[in-house]
Amino acid sequence: MRLAILAACALVVSSAAHAEEKAGVGDVIVQCAACHGADGIAKSADVPHLAGQQELYLLNQIKAFRSGKRPHKEMRFMSRQLTPADMAEIARHYAQMPR
Ligand code: HEC
Repeated sequence: MRLAILAACALVVSSAAHAEEKAGVGDVIVQCAACHGADGIAKSADVPHLAGQQELYLLNQIKAFRSGKRPHKEMRFMSRQLTPADMAEIARHYAQMPR
């Protein structure tokens, strides 16, 4: 009985951790979409399109915003919350979108 409860707990914990991990980048991309568009095409003329851009270029820009090498207030703030894995996934995500 005890063992069953323990096993059930372990299952819940591991699936919750997994869901969180997955939602992580999805949640972030929703925030990016506010400016860059859900389809990677920005609605505002002063925001660049990201769809179909080179993956390496996107990754390098996000890293540069994060470090402050490419100065931009909003992008610095947005990139600060990203892990290296998030940045790689986001760059891949936008690079794969059709222009
Ligand atoms: C508040 C609006 C806003 C949000 C939210 C936002 N961005 Fe940006 N982003 C911009 C603007 C404006 C620029 C242009 C910066 C500049 O002029 O240097 C930019 C530039 C970029 C660039 C460089 C594009 C290029 O062609 O050089 C990348 C990559 C990027 N954003 C990714 C993201 C990602 C990923 C997120 C979510 C984590 C995000 N942005 C969220 C406004 C935003």
